[in-house]
Amino acid sequence: MSKTYKIAVMGGDGTGPEVAVEGVKVLKAAAEKFKFKLELTDFDYGGDRYLRTGEVLPDNVVEVLTKHDAIFLGAIGHPDVKPGILEKGILLSLRFALDQYINLRPVILYPNVDTPLKDKGPEDIDFVVVRENTEGLYAGAGGVLKKNTPDEVAVQESINTRKGVERCIRYAFDYARKRNKRKQVTLCGKTNVLTYAFDLWERTFYEVAKEYPDIKTDYAHVDAICMWMVKNPEWFDVIVTDNMFGDIITDLGAMIQGGMGIAAGGNINPEGVSMFEPIGGSAPKYTGKNVINPLAAIGAAQMMLDHLGESEAAQAIENAIRRTVAEKLDSLSAGQMGYGTKEVGDLVAGAV
Ligand code: IPM
Ligand code: MN
Repeated sequence: MSKTYKIAVMGGDGTGPEVAVEGVKVLKAAAEKFKFKLELTDFDYGGDRYLRTGEVLPDNVVEVLTKHDAIFLGAIGHPDVKPGILEKGILLSLRFALDQYINLRPVILYPNVDTPLKDKGPEDIDFVVVRENTEGLYAGAGGVLKKNTPDEVAVQESINTRKGVERCIRYAFDYARKRNKRKQVTLCGKTNVLTYAFDLWERTFYEVAKEYPDIKTDYAHVDAICMWMVKNPEWFDVIVTDNMFGDIITDLGAMIQGGMGIAAGGNINPEGVSMFEPIGGSAPKYTGKNVINPLAAIGAAQMMLDHLGESEAAQAIENAIRRTVAEKLDSLSAGQMGYGTKEVGDLVAGAV
């Protein structure tokens, strides 16, 4: 009996919907080939709807989303909406409400994709970042006093709970084991300055590590890791870090793997509903121009199938992406694919 997956598709803003369409195209090709069914439902939350109706993300939508097997997201961010409203109101709200406590972001350079790193190739750039996704500076703790006066005070606190830190670290160790490459987890922190938060992270890290004698441990400060990611990316296998540092280092990661058009990520709740997205933004000025690289969205689709247990189908998508970039696309890093958004989707779907 073939399985049916209920997927919520949220195209979002700017170029989000057009890359999501290509991801869905590839998902459908995989479903046909590997004999499972997709029940896709569109959700039109985003800037346009907000400007039309004032609605960001009504409470009952979260309830409806929990009835799905996964969420497939395009991008959130609209040029006519004040920054923060949609990002916090939709993207972060979903991560929090669905307790998607892991943000899994692979940094993998495919053959034939340009990296700005001199003398580094696919064998050197192959690691994943496990970013904590519901706490830290993103928790929204803090406040402001005497706003718009010369005495204004702004406080934004980083919240780190033992439970939140531990489940994230544990996920990273499990992932390193499953990944079965260097079998190494690097904690990325700032223990020399953030002596409360990263003391908790560090103690938890080495405690959890005792349960994984087959996995090597390593530590780097966040500033140093930015240096090593450029100088010696081959040192990394799994990097685990907090929400803010994870946000920052994964943009750097995206650049070394060929750009935002390639980088995919998953907001994962291992016990609940997860959400997969290309990590680049909504790139509003390119909307409707058929120029945005959909490989990040297609990579997100691949991660989603892997998460749902369709590992063969996920592997087929990865192979199709690899074949497409190796055989068809000129150079991806220049933003000049030689093909349009739709054509790249067709090529990968065809290869699946
Ligand atoms: C990301 C994005 C988001 C984040 C923004 C849009 C809120 O940069 O997914 O990395 O900071 O997490
Ligand atoms: Mn980011």
